[in-house]
Amino acid sequence: MNSRDTLKINSAGHLEIGGADCTDLAKEFGTPLYVYDETHIRNMMRVYQDTIKEAYDGRGLVLYASKAFSCEAVYAIAKQEGIGIDVVSGGELYTAMQAGFPAEKICMHGNNKLKHEIEFALDRKIGTIVVDAYSEADMLDEEARKRGIVQDILLRINPGIEAHTHAYVQTATPDSKFGFSIADGTAEKMTAYLLQKKNLRLKGFHCHIGSQIFEKQSFVLAVEKNVKFMSDIKNSLGFVTESLNMGGGFGIWYTQEDAKLTVKEYKEYLLALIQTLKKECGTYGLQLPFIYIEPGRSIVGEAGITLYTVGAVKEIPGIKKYVAIDGGMFESPRYALYHSKYTALLANRANDTPTEMISIAGKCCESGDIIAANVNLPKAQTGDILAVLSTGAYHYSMASNYNRNLIPPAILVKDGKADYIVKPQSYEDLVRNDLIPERLK
Ligand code: LLP
Repeated sequence: MNSRDTLKINSAGHLEIGGADCTDLAKEFGTPLYVYDETHIRNMMRVYQDTIKEAYDGRGLVLYASKAFSCEAVYAIAKQEGIGIDVVSGGELYTAMQAGFPAEKICMHGNNKLKHEIEFALDRKIGTIVVDAYSEADMLDEEARKRGIVQDILLRINPGIEAHTHAYVQTATPDSKFGFSIADGTAEKMTAYLLQKKNLRLKGFHCHIGSQIFEKQSFVLAVEKNVKFMSDIKNSLGFVTESLNMGGGFGIWYTQEDAKLTVKEYKEYLLALIQTLKKECGTYGLQLPFIYIEPGRSIVGEAGITLYTVGAVKEIPGIKKYVAIDGGMFESPRYALYHSKYTALLANRANDTPTEMISIAGKCCESGDIIAANVNLPKAQTGDILAVLSTGAYHYSMASNYNRNLIPPAILVKDGKADYIVKPQSYEDLVRNDLIPERLK
């Protein structure tokens, strides 16, 4: 079990989240079901924003990296908590705007933003756009000129740090598709280029070194490299950095192999970052920049669990046992993509001792459709409710209709009360955009 206060086993021996019994939730809403604990999401948003308040005089803003879980309700929570968000597509921006999210607190990313996404962002007057290409800078400058505005931007730079995480989610290695490298001088060249743009106002820099990172040292190193760059660029171009965005990437608990940080301990990451920033800016004689951080996974990851119903159980004698559930890689793609590890338990028999090592199989038509491999479970039977923990980040947001399976609904739980935040899909939804040309009729 993870360390979240609101995830526990109740007196009936059932898993409980946010005061709601998971077997009741499964009965009421059906499975597969994404379940989110509102309190944990809010606690995580608060711990970051409060740390900036306490340790940095409030001169910064937490931007929830909404690629981790994007839907109107999560933007509504971020709005209530007074934090900002980061969006990476027109779709995320549209969703946030539908939720009434304040445009000035939105920061837009993307290594290849499309023209219509840039137009949309400018028309909605979003706060900051993080520039990541020459062609984008040209397009953005031109579109801002047409609108008679000067757009605030940051430049995405690559500090060249290999954080210890999965290769697919490392982003600041020398061969990354993201950002401009400090080491090879392209970051400085791009800075000079942006400073000539009349309709762009360069406020500073952004970097994101990767995801699911536990070592504070990686973040400390990134700050050191950024501040050195800020100093170099001040000396060479006379540019004074007003804002620095340090990205996201704080790790979460998935299995016993991961650290189990309390909400308060996440404060330490930010404190380490802030202390280094203050120290380094002092050393180089630089003014302290306004800071942004962009946590995604650590805000929603452990707040979410997925509930399934056990279907077929198949044993290949002496080799393996599969427990198949009513979900699959269409709603939980991270094992197929990254061989990610998870903790699972039977929500209806949560006190039963795990007795066997099994793999949880999905219902998609391919062998790689595994939800989690080598999981320790009590003997599962058809009809049991299986809960997979820490599925709040990059599950719903990466879900698809593969095999024309329906993307499960999501509910938000607080004080025992559950509400839909994403409605169930229907078969009609699946064919809504399908067309049969006349000649095929
Ligand atoms: N900022 C930027 C610019 C990012 O690229 C990301 C994540 C974040 C913030 C948020 O990082 P977080 O705090 O969530 O680690 N699909 C992968 C994760 C991809 C992360 C992409 N960028 C997964 O399921 O592990």
